[in-house]
Amino acid sequence: MKNIVVIVGSPRKNGNTELLADAFIEGARSVGNTVEKISVIGKKIGGCIGCNACYRDAEHRCIQHDDMEDCYKRLSAADIIVIATPIYFYGVSSQLKCLIDRLHNPIRSTFKVKKLGLLAVCADESESVFDSVITMYRSVLSYFSLADGGVVTVYGVPEKGDIAGNPKLKAAEEMGRGI
Ligand SMILES: Cc1cc2nc3c(=O)[nH]c(=O)nc-3n(C[C@H](O)[C@H](O)[C@H](O)COP(=O)(O)O)c2cc1C
Repeated sequence: MKNIVVIVGSPRKNGNTELLADAFIEGARSVGNTVEKISVIGKKIGGCIGCNACYRDAEHRCIQHDDMEDCYKRLSAADIIVIATPIYFYGVSSQLKCLIDRLHNPIRSTFKVKKLGLLAVCADESESVFDSVITMYRSVLSYFSLADGGVVTVYGVPEKGDIAGNPKLKAAEEMGRGI
């Protein structure tokens, strides 16, 4: 069984992203995986400033001492990482982007992750809203030679809780069971 880390990138507690992530987690746990959730809520994670100090430091420490230190530890133990994000201006949330950009750090070469997954939600009634995030996801898979653990997207959910009863929650649960 695998150690899965789900990064929930919405700053809205119990929002649509978190409910979709929870459905995935339920499925993944039901077949014996260990699943840990990292939420951006309450975390202080500054954006990468491109100084590359982490490349020069023997222990790849970042000059920013914030909650990313804990994230590096938790992510390094993951066999599978699942990114869950609301769409913000056709991209991932800014909070999640800060976390992702801080992986521009050679510490990532110590990670054992072999597979990624993607969960995303948006307000508009169009699947095409996810195009840019899916392109980014596929580029990351290819660049890091990671396996695709699946993608579940849910459009038409603007308000907190709109996702309740959406059949895609079942799809996320299935993705969790099969990953
Ligand atoms: C800053 C911001 C930007 C957004 N940009 C988009 C967008 O480009 N397209 C879209 O369909 N929805 C957009 N939305 C709506 C969110 O994706 C939607 O409300 C989603 O359900 C939020 O997920 P959450 O409940 O997990 O926070 C945006 C919302 C915010 C707050």
